[in-house]
Amino acid sequence: MVSEPIINAIKQARRIVVFSGAGMSAESGIPTFRDDWVGLWQQYDPMELATAEAFKKDPELVWGWYEWRRARLEQAQPNAGHLALAQWQKHYPLTIITQNEDNLHKRAGSYSVIHMHGSLNAAYCSLCKHPHPLPRAPVNLPLEGGRIAPPSCELCQGLVRPGVVWFGEPLLQADLRAAIYAAENSDLVLAVGTSGVVQPAALIPYWAKEKGALVIQVNPKESSIDEVSDYNVRQSAATVLPYIVQALGYN
Ligand code: APR
Repeated sequence: MVSEPIINAIKQARRIVVFSGAGMSAESGIPTFRDDWVGLWQQYDPMELATAEAFKKDPELVWGWYEWRRARLEQAQPNAGHLALAQWQKHYPLTIITQNEDNLHKRAGSYSVIHMHGSLNAAYCSLCKHPHPLPRAPVNLPLEGGRIAPPSCELCQGLVRPGVVWFGEPLLQADLRAAIYAAENSDLVLAVGTSGVVQPAALIPYWAKEKGALVIQVNPKESSIDEVSDYNVRQSAATVLPYIVQALGYN
């Protein structure tokens, strides 16, 4: 499962960062960006839908995708991997840096979570940036998804957009600075469920390694993180993380 050298390295580490990607939420039923999508979304590439250009061109399609994802998220539950990290944080000050737009780390009970790509549960005006509180996601969405007209800003009537970082957009400076600081001051990075292809988030393990940190990857498949990893655990997040927490005696 997880070799003794890995468990010993984790036991000896003083400042651990967990860096999670979409694979962290896969066992909660949330499709990753490399998975096959269903219904309407099958004909679109997530990398193309998650852009300001797509929203400008067809706001109802993009808003419909995010509302469909938000509705699925509300039906999903944190998996054993999320819960293991929350349990771990009860005994040890883990910092979690996530690329995920879901709120499953928080719903599992984790604190100190840095969201590098924003949140499905945040929204703001695409014109004046005024925050737009979201009601619960629609419950009667068709399984295959569909177009939904985005709400209008209460201040300027601009179109409300998802509070996520789209491809080609800059990350929120505060989140990026916090993530870089955590990575550069860590002595061990546990990279869980990320393909390591989306910059600058994918640099987290590299920034840590440059400062002498050990990098351990948890991913059933090879990824771009392989080249910077000292160890690769070819198993799933919901299998490995509970095992680690048990081996640390934090259950
Ligand atoms: N446990 C661990 N890893 C898993 C699991 C699992 N159960 N299931 C899949 N994986 C791995 C896949 O092998 C893949 O390498 O998770 C990775 C998911 O990769 P991506 O879908 O590319 O997700 P991510 O690395 O988070 O990058 C996508 O870019 O699209 C933007 O903001 C978006 O945060 C998102 C990021």
